[in-house]
Amino acid sequence: MSDDPSMKPMFRLDHKVALVTGAARGIGAATARTLARQGARIAAADIDFEGAKALVREIGNRAQAFAANLAKVEECRALVAAVAERFGRIDILVNNAGICPTQPFGTATEADWDTLMNVNARSQYFLMQTVCPVMKKQGGGRIINLSSAAGRVGSVLNASIYSGTKAAILMISKSIAREVAGDGILVNCVAPGPIKTDIQRNLPADRLKAACDQIPLKRFGEPEEVAAVIAFLASDESSFCTGATFDVNGGWFML
Ligand SMILES: NC(=O)c1ccc[n+]([C@@H]2O[C@H](COP(=O)([O-])OP(=O)(O)OC[C@H]3O[C@@H](n4cnc5c(N)ncnc54)[C@H](O)[C@@H]3O)[C@@H](O)[C@H]2O)c1
Repeated sequence: MSDDPSMKPMFRLDHKVALVTGAARGIGAATARTLARQGARIAAADIDFEGAKALVREIGNRAQAFAANLAKVEECRALVAAVAERFGRIDILVNNAGICPTQPFGTATEADWDTLMNVNARSQYFLMQTVCPVMKKQGGGRIINLSSAAGRVGSVLNASIYSGTKAAILMISKSIAREVAGDGILVNCVAPGPIKTDIQRNLPADRLKAACDQIPLKRFGEPEEVAAVIAFLASDESSFCTGATFDVNGGWFML
C-alpha cells in the first residue's frame, strides 16, 4: 500500500470495538456485518441470543454475541460492563434495538407506553450513560442512535407512541452531544424511512404501499443502505459531525 496519506483507505475501523444492539437481524445485523468488514471487532447484543450467535458465526472470531433485554436498565449497564471486560474497550455504540408495534391512539395502554419507551428510548439513554465513561477514559468514541422518519414527522402507521420514542431520541442525542463533546465523544442519529426488515411485519400492507408511492426513489430501503451511513458516522472521517440527524429515506421527507 502507498505511504501517501492521501491514498489512505477511508472509513476503516481497524482496532475499534463496536457494540451493536439489536444485532440479530435487520438493520442491526447489516450494521454489524458492515462494521466488521471495515475492520471493527463486534459485540452483537440482542434479546434474541440465538440470532445474535448465528450472526457471530457468520462474522467469525472478531465478534461475540451478548444476551440482553435492553428494556431493563440493569441489563443495559451489565451489557456495557461485559463488553468492556471482554474486549478491553468500546469505541462505537450503535443504539439500534427497537420495536414498532402499532396501536391506534384510542386503545393504547399504559403497558404499551412503558414497553415502547423502555425498549426504544430508555435503553439508548442508559447505554449512553454507561458507555460514555468508558469512551472518555479512552479519549473519545462514537455513538449512533437509531431514530426514525416517524420521529421527524410523526407516524403515518398508527404508531404514535413509537414516533414519540423516536422523537425523544433526537433531542436526547443533541443534548448529550453537547455534554460529552469535550470528552471527544460524538453523538449522532440516523433516521431511516421504510426499510425492508421484520419490523414491518405487523404494519398494514396498504399503508406501507401508500408510503412507498410517496417516496421519490419509489422503493423501500435495504438495511445495508442504513448500515453504510452508520459506518461513516462510526469512522474517523465523521470527526466534525455531532448532534446531527441523518435521514436515510429515499427522499420521503426532506427536512
Ligand atoms: N425497518 C424500518 O423501516 C425502520 C424505520 C425507521 C427506524 N427503524 C429503527 O431501526 C432499528 C432497527 O429496526 P429493524 O427494522 O432492523 O427491526 P427488526 O425488528 O428487524 O430488528 C430489531 C432487533 O432488536 C431486537 N430487540 C427488540 N427488543 C429488544 C430488547 N428489549 N432488547 C434487546 N434487543 C431487542 C430484536 O430482537 C431484533 O433483533 C429500530 O430502532 C427501528 O425503530 C427501522
